[in-house]
Amino acid sequence: SRRVKAVDLARRKAEGRKIIALTAYHAHTASILDAHCDFILVGDSLGMVMHGMESTLPVTLEMMILQAQAVIRGTSRALIVVDMPFGSYEASREQAFMNAARVLKETGAGAIKMEGGARFAETVEFLVQRGIPVMGHIGLTPQSVNTMGGFRVQGRTAESERRLMEDARAINDAGAFAIVMEGIVEPVAKAIATSEAITTPTIGIGATAHCDGQILVLEDMLGLSDRSPKFVKSYGSLRSHIEEAVQAYAEEVRSGRFPAEEHTYPPA
Ligand code: KIV
Ligand code: NA
Repeated sequence: SRRVKAVDLARRKAEGRKIIALTAYHAHTASILDAHCDFILVGDSLGMVMHGMESTLPVTLEMMILQAQAVIRGTSRALIVVDMPFGSYEASREQAFMNAARVLKETGAGAIKMEGGARFAETVEFLVQRGIPVMGHIGLTPQSVNTMGGFRVQGRTAESERRLMEDARAINDAGAFAIVMEGIVEPVAKAIATSEAITTPTIGIGATAHCDGQILVLEDMLGLSDRSPKFVKSYGSLRSHIEEAVQAYAEEVRSGRFPAEEHTYPPA
């Protein structure tokens, strides 16, 4: 296939070209992103964005596979990365491998992403050695919302700073082909992203501009979500566009202006 491969991201980094990424859950939106993104993440944020869940915890492997299949159908060029949802990989390396293999087999995606730092390095290595490219995800990891006590920006204390650098190193050394860094205070995120010890590409979201690439949740940057975090820049206002269109439609149906003659089928 002509798709971007997980290993290609390292070349982007070596060439000093920024890695461009967004999330997508649907065939149509993914098809618009395809030409512009190095990779598209089918994120477990779909639980909150598509389904209105309070967190990503209820998301199932079946939900991830279904949306990944849709995104694959809508694309031909970008690398597709699929999130491993809560409960599908933490119990053991074997559990992680079985479920990650299922994702790749049933969707045709090129890689998976899993949350977690040093504690998951062994799992990352186990998968990579068995043919599954793994993207790491450190810092603010939304699946840990209950143990973090909320969605908290990371790296505010010396202890947290030390742990984040340790997490980045462990996931880097385990062979992850890239690491998402989410919600990390600037000096700490910069120190990780520019560290000689971190050779794998770093992808920022609410982290530093010094990362090798950036990712945002598509619906957040399009202005479709009803609320989004401080780190999101709005590149559109889809919510008001949709509102205006729906209002216009409702008015025209009410007044009888829609459907007009050109929207009806003539006889024979
Ligand atoms: O689920 C998701 O959308 C993510 C990105 C925010 C990195 O994990
Ligand atoms: Na996610």
